[in-house]
Amino acid sequence: MSQSIPIHGASRTVSNTYDLSTSPTMTFNSPPSSFKMRQQVAASAKTLKPFDTKDIKVLLLENVNQTGQDILRRQGYQVEFLKGSLPKEQLIEKIRDVHVIGIRSKTKLTAEVLKEAKNLIVIGCFCIGTNQVDLQYAAENGIAVFNSPFSNSRSVAELVIAEIIALARQLTDRSMELHNGTWNKVSAGCWEVRGKTLGIVGYGHIGNQLSVLAEAMGMKVIYYDVVNLMSMGTATQVPTLKALLESADFVTLHVPELPETKNMIGAKELSQMRNGSYLINASRGTVVDIPALIDAMRSGKLAGAAIDVFPHEPAGNGDYFNNDLNKWAEDLRSLKNLILSPHIGGSTEEAQSAIGIEVADALTRYVNEGTTLGAVNLPELALRSLTTDEPDHVRVIYIHKNVPGVLRRVNEIFADHNVDKQSTDSKGDVAYLMADISNVNTDEIKGLYQSLEELSSKIKTRVLY
Ligand SMILES: NC(=O)c1ccc[n+]([C@@H]2O[C@H](COP(=O)([O-])OP(=O)(O)OC[C@H]3O[C@@H](n4cnc5c(N)ncnc54)[C@H](O)[C@@H]3O)[C@@H](O)[C@H]2O)c1
Repeated sequence: MSQSIPIHGASRTVSNTYDLSTSPTMTFNSPPSSFKMRQQVAASAKTLKPFDTKDIKVLLLENVNQTGQDILRRQGYQVEFLKGSLPKEQLIEKIRDVHVIGIRSKTKLTAEVLKEAKNLIVIGCFCIGTNQVDLQYAAENGIAVFNSPFSNSRSVAELVIAEIIALARQLTDRSMELHNGTWNKVSAGCWEVRGKTLGIVGYGHIGNQLSVLAEAMGMKVIYYDVVNLMSMGTATQVPTLKALLESADFVTLHVPELPETKNMIGAKELSQMRNGSYLINASRGTVVDIPALIDAMRSGKLAGAAIDVFPHEPAGNGDYFNNDLNKWAEDLRSLKNLILSPHIGGSTEEAQSAIGIEVADALTRYVNEGTTLGAVNLPELALRSLTTDEPDHVRVIYIHKNVPGVLRRVNEIFADHNVDKQSTDSKGDVAYLMADISNVNTDEIKGLYQSLEELSSKIKTRVLY
């Protein structure tokens, strides 16, 4: 079946036949590696193509960053790019036809929408969160979902550095006063940060970056984490949250949103902090008990605070930051030396560009090689690449129900060939199997594919050659 669809304003003929595929046309390049061995392997890696899909069609919505578009186009995929999101009916219409969809936070990929996406193999969330996708439904239907949780770590760390200095110098109050015409030159209660102690709660991607930057400014760094971690520079891990709170001049929070981190900083923890210290929260809004923070600011226990995240945040920009949104919003707005920012920790051009690269790379690896590393709803698996000197090899991806006896049946189907390598793992009810098989000639690929498709455990089969 052939049909004509507009792509970037031009009209191209595409085909959905079960012929050998024409895309990808480019070899996927792994990120630069310092290991020579890996570079040599990558150089001779074979570009795999799906046998049953002539062209890989990609729909990118919500103005996905140019870096991501470029990577997908360079693969020879047919990329349709739209600046906005789509109303549900149009989304359903378009999603029927594509193998890959890239979205940000506005596009809701519910079970109702995904039910129509018969060709879809993978979803790329070009953002941090994946709440907008029905992950369970996607997994049960063999659709992998990728996101980019760590591309903006540096941006958050840099914002926190700015806030540490701004709080120590009461900079935002002075700026606000001068905006209102008041000259108020003061040095009382204003400090250098050199020699002060920064306490980092949660020493992950952001905590690490921050640790290095803070030491470069002459700060002493201590951190608390539930995991024992290697320190950056001369930072030291402390055994308890209390030990950190009692010793730090600045406390900054970088933990995930979990039941254990809900109101992790409340009245008790605030009372354990040093008099005249500062609190920064750019993690999640639920981590700090805000009414307790307001009390600590009013009593002078805290000399300042910076809050970038809130329990309830508006869906769009506008004058929404009031008591209807969070019942204490107006109390918060009235406090001095309190920096309030609208969840912009990770909002930089660099982070958007890095998200484009990270997600497009993950999509490309999944489409071309079946690698699920970084997938949020399927087990994470990878096999070493097939090479150009393995011409009669195919890679089989078999996403199936996690029920007894599947491997025996799959290996019966593989029995006439040589299984060079195989890996399988499960996540809940869904299991993912990858196998590289040799001595397969092109005429046998279809039979292999159909035999797997006929198994009752099948969710989705892909054969790459
Ligand atoms: N403000 C923003 O725009 C923005 C941007 C990106 C990330 N974030 C948020 O920042 C937070 C940290 O992100 P990350 O990328 O560094 O995460 P990460 O997963 O790399 O690190 C989190 C660290 O917290 C530790 N941890 C977990 N539970 C803990 C607990 N109860 N006590 C102490 N440590 C605990 C983990 O062991 C881990 O080392 C997340 O909540 C994330 O959502 C905010």
